[in-house]
Amino acid sequence: MTFGSTTQAGLAQQQHGATTTSARRRSLQDFAGTALKAAAAFWLAVTAIGQLIFVVYIVALYGRSTVQGNFAAWNKVMPHGYVPGDSIGNAALAGHMLLAAIIMLGGLLQLVPQLRTRAPAFHRWNGRVYLLSAVAASLTGLYMVWFRGAAGDLMQHLGISFNALLVVVCGAMALRHALARKFALHRRWALRLFLVVSGVWFFRVGLMFWIVVNGGPAGFDPETFRGPFLSFLSFAQTLLPLAVLELYLRAQDRAGAGGKIAMAAGLLALTLAMGVGIGVATMGLWLPHI
Ligand code: HEM
Repeated sequence: MTFGSTTQAGLAQQQHGATTTSARRRSLQDFAGTALKAAAAFWLAVTAIGQLIFVVYIVALYGRSTVQGNFAAWNKVMPHGYVPGDSIGNAALAGHMLLAAIIMLGGLLQLVPQLRTRAPAFHRWNGRVYLLSAVAASLTGLYMVWFRGAAGDLMQHLGISFNALLVVVCGAMALRHALARKFALHRRWALRLFLVVSGVWFFRVGLMFWIVVNGGPAGFDPETFRGPFLSFLSFAQTLLPLAVLELYLRAQDRAGAGGKIAMAAGLLALTLAMGVGIGVATMGLWLPHI
């Protein structure tokens, strides 16, 4: 009898212990999931602010001057801006600027979850416009790089051309999976597309972050806009965000609590660095032209 009741008490204690451990594990999992979600939401908010400032800059500098017929103003920033007599090149550049503004705004709208669930028709139409604009911006960009001349050297031209190629590949994959109604795969490819399309924005933000942490231009010549760091950044603008996204998707789908928390912390650190880059780009590159 005594032996029986002792055993029963032991079993109950063991059961209680197991329940407590699994409850603790569950609450740690919940915390890790929430932390990862919060880090991603924070990243999106900071990205949205930075890209909206970039859109305002594009509209203020290129939109305003074009409407006023003041094409010479295009050359305030670009070394290969308005070229009198080069009607094809100037038209490609004007189209590129218009598409750039559409893309930067349209991409952000695609990521707003409420718009996806409450206005699916808008998501589909905006998605088509976004995809076509991104491909057209890449094609006009390729034309300018290889037939018109652009800032930087061969490595930078190869880097941005690689970016243009990936825009087409990710766009085709996102569209293919949407049409096949494979929405989990569509989401993955659409996120990749968003990051690749944002590559030129990452380039500017990354460059400004690099300059501020080094206390000035390092690893490149600011006069010629050439050097090893810019060669690296030309590819990193595409590959680095894609690599972080793959880690994030893995953490979201497969990682335990530790992996999720590590990913959330890493994403938070990257977002803070990005915030610094956005701040410096806003003050140095964009605000002076708004
Ligand atoms: C898809 C997203 C893209 C956006 C939002 C975008 C945006 C811009 C903006 C705003 C400028 C004006 C420069 C400035 O004021 O900062 C510009 C210039 C330019 N972009 Fe893009 N761009 C994109 C993709 C590309 C791609 C994929 C290429 C090349 C393959 C490219 C090639 C160029 C060239 C050659 C210039 C002129 C730069 C110079 O004068 O040297 N762009 N772009």
